[in-house]
Amino acid sequence: QTPRAAAPPNRNITWHPSLSRHERNSYRKQRGFTIWFTGLSASGKSTIATALEQHLLHLGYAAYRLDGDNVRFGLNKDLGFSERDRNENIRRIAEVAKLFADSSTIAITSFISPYRADRNTARELHAAATPHGDDPLAFVEVFVDIPVKEAEKRDPKGLYKKARAGEIKEFTGISAPYEAPESPEVHIRSEKTTVEEGVGQIMNYLDKHGLLK
Ligand code: PPS
Repeated sequence: QTPRAAAPPNRNITWHPSLSRHERNSYRKQRGFTIWFTGLSASGKSTIATALEQHLLHLGYAAYRLDGDNVRFGLNKDLGFSERDRNENIRRIAEVAKLFADSSTIAITSFISPYRADRNTARELHAAATPHGDDPLAFVEVFVDIPVKEAEKRDPKGLYKKARAGEIKEFTGISAPYEAPESPEVHIRSEKTTVEEGVGQIMNYLDKHGLLK
C-alpha cells in the first residue's frame, strides 16, 4: 500500500512502507482486487454479489462482500441518505475495499453508489494505490441494470411503496438520482438475466483479464 496523497498538514504522521503487493499476492497465491456492484435498490446486486462470493469461495479464492444495508449497521451507522452522506458512505467503502484488495482478497461491494463521481473516485483510489512495478489493484465495475418500473414491481422490502407514499425521502430512482455507469466492465441486465448467468458474465470477465491466476 502506498500513500495516495501527501500527509495531512501538522499531524505528525508518516507513511510506513509495507510488503509489496506482489510479495503478498505470491504468499496468498491469488490477486486481490475489487468488484464494485452498482444499481438501484431491488436491482438484484446483493443477490448476484452473494452468489459470486459463494462461487469464488467454493473455487478456493478468498473473497469478502461488503453490503449496503449491513455496513450501515456498523461502520457507517452515522450516515443517512442525503447526497453528502452517500458521498461519505462510498468514500469509506472504497477505502475499506481497497484495504481488503490490498490484502490479496477479492473485495466485493454491493452498494447503490448512485453518483458517478463517487464511483470514479473509488476507481481512482485503487489505481493510485499501485507503486511503479507492483501488482496493480484492479477495479471491476459491475452495473446491475434494471428499469425503475421493474425494480418497483419487485419491491421486496416495500421501500418503493413507502417512497411513493412520501414516507421515505430521497429514495433512489424516485426522489433521488441514480447516475448509470457509462462504461462498466460488466453490464448485467437483471430483468433478462438469471443470477447464475450474472455470475457467469462476471467470471468470464475475470478469466479473460487474468485476474484469477
Ligand atoms: S448508497 O446510495 O450507496 O449510499 O446506499 P447503500 O449504502 O447501498 O444503501 C442502500 C440500502 O438502504 C436502504 N435504503 C435506501 N436506499 C435508497 N434510498 C433511500 N432513501 C433508502 N433508505 C433506505 C435500502 O434497503 C437499500 O438496500 P438495497 O439492497 O439497495 O435495496
